[in-house]
Amino acid sequence: MLPYQIIEKKSYGKALTPEEIAFFVNGYTRDDIPDYQMSALLMAIFINGMTNEETLALTKVMLESGDRLDFAAADGFVADKHSTGGVGDKVSLILAPVLAALDIKIPMISGRGLGHTGGTLDKLESIPGFNVNLSGDDFQKMVLTNGVSLIGQTKNICPADKKLYALRDVTATVRSIPLISASIMSKKIAEGIQGLVLDVKTGSGAFMPSYDDSKALAESLVAIGKLYGIQTTALITDMNQPLGRKIGNWLEVEESIAGLQGNGPEDLMMVTLALGAEILQMADPQLSAEDAHKTQLAVIENGAALEKFMTTTRLHGGDTKVLEKPDNHSRATHRVDYPAPRSGSLQTIDTMQLGFLGIELDAGRRKTSDKIDPDTGFVIHKRLGEKVQTNEPLITIHANKKPALDSVMSQMEKVFKIGDEPAHTPTLIYEKIG
Ligand code: URA
Repeated sequence: MLPYQIIEKKSYGKALTPEEIAFFVNGYTRDDIPDYQMSALLMAIFINGMTNEETLALTKVMLESGDRLDFAAADGFVADKHSTGGVGDKVSLILAPVLAALDIKIPMISGRGLGHTGGTLDKLESIPGFNVNLSGDDFQKMVLTNGVSLIGQTKNICPADKKLYALRDVTATVRSIPLISASIMSKKIAEGIQGLVLDVKTGSGAFMPSYDDSKALAESLVAIGKLYGIQTTALITDMNQPLGRKIGNWLEVEESIAGLQGNGPEDLMMVTLALGAEILQMADPQLSAEDAHKTQLAVIENGAALEKFMTTTRLHGGDTKVLEKPDNHSRATHRVDYPAPRSGSLQTIDTMQLGFLGIELDAGRRKTSDKIDPDTGFVIHKRLGEKVQTNEPLITIHANKKPALDSVMSQMEKVFKIGDEPAHTPTLIYEKIG
């Protein structure tokens, strides 16, 4: 088999065999196949798609590129939540400790920023000292003793996704249903979980902006989960505007702490609690949705969820002093408002464009070796449908480099559309699949 022939076959839209997929992905993971050939195959998949059989074969080979964890010794339900990626999406940082405080075991294998979206690992690393690179053994021990641990793919767990994810991030090959499905599900199946809830984003800041594509992605993810014997549901949630008010790595940790203290923005908390309720109801099918919401609110109100986040940070080597006093964390040098150019109501936010502007501020990566600036990002002041007066701040840009600040400021007019017509406030949670 030659990589060239497999790329050519896919470039003509033909379905690959499981053997061809395994040959290519394993060869790439072992460094026998170079980035440029894998990039070409990814682009051919991106353009031509994959059949369900190919997507399953890709998931299987990515899963089998590393170890699978086994939580048979766990005392309690083992579950996880994963998002298809959004802007300002910090749900995992709040939900993981909330569920762990309710005795659900959460072995969370997450990703870094991808395309225009942020990643849980980059956010956690904005906490000084937080180590997301634990060995599989240490990860497993921490989940069993502490209830939750959050790491990235390792050389033992989903190494194929680790390499492919980084390559897709910089080759514009993220927005593909089979590639997203295999990436997410290989990580989640490797975790050895019993239950999984997926947050499938739809709208201008989602990888799948159209509702039909988001639904097709949700169905693909749920079908793979079920085939592997995992109780899986997906909520399709809105990404026509950032979730919460803060976007950027440390800024999002700061907003998550507020959420764990009971002061999170309403949209962020609603999505978090709805996803958490799915897991709690899988663990206890007798529990009503209302009680599942109440129990989560109780561990936020009594401080148990925040305490779990603090302990988890400490166990990962992170400095909890900045979590106790977020003002002690470093801040971006420039914090400048972008004023509304006219009055009216906020009609649309180009959320994907906003995510890409975050990369210009170094809140995300242009190439895999780039270092993230943890302090940069945005604080958004207006939501879709709200009334705006001329010169009122729409967003505050947090930047450390003046040229990047100027460039982002000059492009902001492309992000916000203000009009005279009464504007539409999007639904937050559209539909449940599975
Ligand atoms: N999250 C992942 O883990 N992988 C993707 O491809 C997209 C979102």
